[in-house]
Amino acid sequence: MWPENVGIRAIEAIFPSQFVDQTELEQFDGASAGKYTIGLGQGKMGFCSDREDVNSLCLTVVSRLLERYQIKPQEIGRLEVGTETIIDKSKSVKSVLMQLFADSGNTDIEGIDTTNACYGGTAALFNSINWIESSSWDGRYALAVCADIAVYAKGAARPTGGAGAIAMLVGPNAPLVFERGLRATHMEHAYDFYKPDLSSEYPTVDGKLSIQCYLSALDTCYQLYCKKFAKKYPQEAEFTLDNFEALLFHTPFCKLVQKSVARVVFNDFLQCSIEKRALKYPGLERFNECTLAQTYFDRDVEKAFMTQFADVFEAKTRQSLLLANQVGNMYTPSVYSGLVSLLINTPTERLIGKRIGLFSYGSGLAATMYSMQVTKDTAAFKQLVSKLDYVLPMLNSREKVAPELFSQLMEVREKNNHAAPYTPTGSVSALFPGTYYLQSVDDMHRRTYERKPTIANGVH
Ligand code: HMG
Repeated sequence: MWPENVGIRAIEAIFPSQFVDQTELEQFDGASAGKYTIGLGQGKMGFCSDREDVNSLCLTVVSRLLERYQIKPQEIGRLEVGTETIIDKSKSVKSVLMQLFADSGNTDIEGIDTTNACYGGTAALFNSINWIESSSWDGRYALAVCADIAVYAKGAARPTGGAGAIAMLVGPNAPLVFERGLRATHMEHAYDFYKPDLSSEYPTVDGKLSIQCYLSALDTCYQLYCKKFAKKYPQEAEFTLDNFEALLFHTPFCKLVQKSVARVVFNDFLQCSIEKRALKYPGLERFNECTLAQTYFDRDVEKAFMTQFADVFEAKTRQSLLLANQVGNMYTPSVYSGLVSLLINTPTERLIGKRIGLFSYGSGLAATMYSMQVTKDTAAFKQLVSKLDYVLPMLNSREKVAPELFSQLMEVREKNNHAAPYTPTGSVSALFPGTYYLQSVDDMHRRTYERKPTIANGVH
């Protein structure tokens, strides 16, 4: 029998224990006051010293999820990792995570790593859902893990870094259910952001092109989503943004998401007949002849729609930007950090039985808009949300680091990326309890990890 209500049954998020303040970073970088905080919409940026890498982030987040939700390792039948933080060109992060399953004897776990910039996490999640909905499913859970360390060379892109990891337990009868037949994908070849230098953690970025690619993928995915919705629900009125209780985005920086909400409204405006526009969009007649393709950087359109529909952004998206604003771009986990932020920031009653839209974007490029439906089972949903009660205290207990030290720590990472043998020098005491960290890299590039003790009655 086809499993019903497949979706997210548990979600666990982690982020670095240290951050740099964006106002201080503006001063340090000699940028004009307000450029990072107002211009990009960023508050703080989490970062990792050389003590953490993508393997350690994934070890931490997966062990936390298994422990806190009391999931036995034998209950996992598929484990997928989405990441663009590559530390080995052959050996998957997934294979490193198998250490967590060794004692249980469960080696029968499908799935490996998936990479395409920030989209890898969504691919991992879709693979997990697809497995459960397929004839290969053996009745066990899938675990989709996304993790990245987003670092940029000194310059305009540096304040748009971040880091983090998210693990999602996927199974039937979930409180967050993926809507079947409502995935709208757009993929094409673009050199907007890529990592051609395999010896460096830093990407090559065409900033302006990346924004245009992001916005045009958003237009295409949204329109396709609307078409698929109409096909699935022919009796319902035309789909508009009103049908989403919340709309979450991949968030390279918060300002782009604010613009993206306005962009979706602009799409609705263009879809609306001229007669109805005057009623629904008063005062915007001057944009009647505009097209999507001509307006990616049209300040008039952007400003008019952002101003007139600021309440739409406040109602549907602002709550989901907490982690993006406080930690930065986590790359693959970014859109799922939006989900965590929404869940901890919204009264549960508001979301019960409602539709949440998600837009996942990865440079290069791959993008999907899809939706999930929140269960009507209030108790099950409240339980999911209550498990996230650690997020705010953990966020507030981070250590602020001066930009000078942040810059030095970035140089240490930069110099020792792929060094072997190597012993990291970053502080272990600065890490949260229960964090896995890199102990050493031997002369054959084999990495060894240790774990900080967890605190009594839990991991944090
Ligand atoms: P920039 O070009 O130096 O910044 O870098 P800018 O000059 O365009 O300024 C940014 C904004 O700040 C502008 O706002 C300025 O006006 C404003 P806008 O006009 O566009 O609304 N500003 C100020 N505001 C208030 N007070 C001030 C002030 N000064 C300026 N004093 C850029 C910006 C995003 C290009 C750069 O940081 C970058 O290249 N970042 C990385 C690329 C990126 O994040 N792209 C986003 C889309 S692609 C994506 O999402 C994929 C990605 O996540 C990777 C993946 O998929 O793996 C990146």
